[in-house]
Amino acid sequence: MEMKSKVLIAGGTGYLGKRLVKASLGQGHETYVLYRPEIGVDIEKLSVQFPVSIFRSHQILLQLKLVDAIKEAGNVKRFLPSEFGTDPAKMENAMEPGRVTFDDKMVVRKAIEEAGIPFTYVSANCFAGYFLGGLCQPGHIIPSREHVSILGSGEEKAIYVDEDDIATYTIMAIDDPRTLNKTLYILPPRNILSQREVVQIWEKLIGKELRKSSISSEEFLASMREQDYAEQVGLTHYYHVCFEGCLTKFEIGDEGEEASKLYPKVKYTTVEEYMKRYL
Ligand SMILES: NC(=O)c1ccc[n+]([C@@H]2O[C@H](COP(=O)([O-])OP(=O)(O)OC[C@H]3O[C@@H](n4cnc5c(N)ncnc54)[C@H](OP(=O)(O)O)[C@@H]3O)[C@@H](O)[C@H]2O)c1
Repeated sequence: MEMKSKVLIAGGTGYLGKRLVKASLGQGHETYVLYRPEIGVDIEKLSVQFPVSIFRSHQILLQLKLVDAIKEAGNVKRFLPSEFGTDPAKMENAMEPGRVTFDDKMVVRKAIEEAGIPFTYVSANCFAGYFLGGLCQPGHIIPSREHVSILGSGEEKAIYVDEDDIATYTIMAIDDPRTLNKTLYILPPRNILSQREVVQIWEKLIGKELRKSSISSEEFLASMREQDYAEQVGLTHYYHVCFEGCLTKFEIGDEGEEASKLYPKVKYTTVEEYMKRYL
């Protein structure tokens, strides 16, 4: 197969990273994975064209070393930093302690832009495996056949994306001129659903109605404050998504593009198709 571009995945052993490596190879790119000891060192030697980074939420600032290396190399056509969630540019009012993730991602964005490095930011919304497995309840990974706790009204919409689809769209975007210096929003239209709608899909699949209780925002926040710091960071993100509907309350402006419109031939996985794996 003729190789198209040289792509480096920094964090290619991780949850999303593995899928990005697969998608990059599948789309015909000569693909490299950056392992921990080599960070910031080998990029020049490899002379890659497109690095994608997927460090953990609490290691986002390590990417500043990558930014320095890319600036020094001077031949990288595009850098996609570790984002892949809620657009941090829309979260300036996010609450503590979870806002650290958004603040750190904005620090990396600033460094990229000040260095004049061409970029694409990917806002991938909710990883399906994290959210759908638990019927949107944090801490649950397999959907119950008995009971579900509804967060708030359960009516706020979120966007659920199969991680393999995130990888496919991301790799399609890396050398696409339409996504240069823009944010790619992954918003599969059929997957924009409330928690209640997700639960209904599951109930239809199992042919049974679940018992439901509800958690108010006050109860959620009070129990969040009893958790350790790392848990609180994650729960803050759930709060903004499930209680405030932060993913769907803004328009994509000129600075962004929507993945399913750019790449209509991609047959993305719907929530119903995704949830069949739990039957
Ligand atoms: N939208 C959502 O629902 C959602 C959910 C979770 C995460 N996210 C976002 O997705 C991104 C990835 O997070 P994650 O938790 O999923 O990542 P992850 O699976 O933990 O993977 C992190 C990767 O970074 C590598 N790494 C860590 N420290 C490194 C270092 N010092 N040098 C080189 N490589 C290093 C890890 O290598 P090892 O294999 O050696 O550990 C691993 O390959 C983050 O930006 C996060 O905010 C989004």
